[in-house]
Amino acid sequence: MNEQATATHPTDERIYDPLDPVVKQDPYPYYTKLRATEPVKWMPSLKVFAVASWNEVDALLKDPKVFTSTQFWPELLGEFDPVPEVPPMISMDPPDHTKLRKLVNKAFLPSKIMKLQQRATDIANELINDIEAKHGREGKFDWVWDFTALFPVTVISDMLGVPTKRRAEFKVWVDDTLAAANRAAYGEARLSEIRGHSHELRTFFEELYDERVKNLGEDMISSLIQAEVDGKKLTRIEVIQMSILLLIGGVETTTNLLGNTMVRLHKSPDVYKRVRNNFDDIKPLLEEVLRFNPPVQMIFRHTLEDTELHGVKIPKGSAVMPLLASANRDETKFKNAGVFDMDRQLEVPLQTFGQGPHFCLGNFLTRMESRQALEVVFSRFEELDLISDEVEWIDSYFARGPHTLPVRYKLR
Ligand code: HEM
Repeated sequence: MNEQATATHPTDERIYDPLDPVVKQDPYPYYTKLRATEPVKWMPSLKVFAVASWNEVDALLKDPKVFTSTQFWPELLGEFDPVPEVPPMISMDPPDHTKLRKLVNKAFLPSKIMKLQQRATDIANELINDIEAKHGREGKFDWVWDFTALFPVTVISDMLGVPTKRRAEFKVWVDDTLAAANRAAYGEARLSEIRGHSHELRTFFEELYDERVKNLGEDMISSLIQAEVDGKKLTRIEVIQMSILLLIGGVETTTNLLGNTMVRLHKSPDVYKRVRNNFDDIKPLLEEVLRFNPPVQMIFRHTLEDTELHGVKIPKGSAVMPLLASANRDETKFKNAGVFDMDRQLEVPLQTFGQGPHFCLGNFLTRMESRQALEVVFSRFEELDLISDEVEWIDSYFARGPHTLPVRYKLR
């Protein structure tokens, strides 16, 4: 089932600049132009080399000896990093990264995640009950703020063993901490809000650690407290850092996946009808949304030596920005890459979750929970669709998802 994408060529002479509001609204035509003209391009606005083609994105992510992750987090969050004392796993290189990754991998194995299926279903049902209590059996609600924002934060809070009653606060703290990536565009009032929320996030986990260390349970924070790397326990600050990374990783990304999926269903009524009638199609639907409009548009690396990508010389110490969302539309790897086609057979992996040592730890979790959420939603709503064709995207160049999505609905 095919659905033609939006325009594949920019209508103006504008070139790709992630900070340009027009580009942020719909970056895909600009990625297309970049791949065709300069797949590796110096971007003065961000002082970074943008990498747009699949081969180069894949190669650099698999080469941590040249493309280090160590400056990723400090550059992303700057002074707003809630735990600046120790790097999070995502901002470490092998072999240090490998040890920590092995430790947390266990909790994210498909066999472990499948055990959470029922809980994910229950959480989706509880949220829909709340919507019914708040808005009635039919009317309007916000798909983002009443459902997709709360769903993943509840799932990951459960896994970590943090009280879900504070989930709305977490959501704000996490979103604001990540918003630090756009700090150059904010005034002092907004920056002070972000600073406050990053601090609250840290304080919350400090208190939780101190309480949990006296009262160990079955949750992931208790496991991290007891875990050993090279015969040594993780320090208090290391456990807090890992907990915050898992919370950050598990929240906004899945919210955006479910938001981007709803936008697509609205644009493709035939796809919508098909998945509503056959829940087996939810899986290929999500896979194609993950390719076509991924929640993480790009990540960052820095070069440890002089190198070259696609014939472009990149000096040692440069920032490099693999454009994951552009790689997913590379016509040399995906046939009719600009077309939404949930029946496509992939010949190469998506870049949505990165590649190499940092390949997303939560990829199986997000797929499972999103599938469960949509099954519940399609079962319980007789009608559910966007009210407007216009989408207000979140104000970020690296994360992509709707900021708000008013929907009209009727429950069965
Ligand atoms: C659609 C949803 C998601 C997307 C698009 C996504 C995307 C990504 C990407 C691109 C990376 C690689 C970063 C890099 O190489 O620097 C990554 C890593 C990571 N993700 Fe996800 N993610 C998603 C969901 C989740 C969830 C649900 C969790 C839950 C805990 C999670 C936790 C992590 C962690 C901890 C890492 C770092 C892994 C490491 O450093 O070894 N992600 N994710």
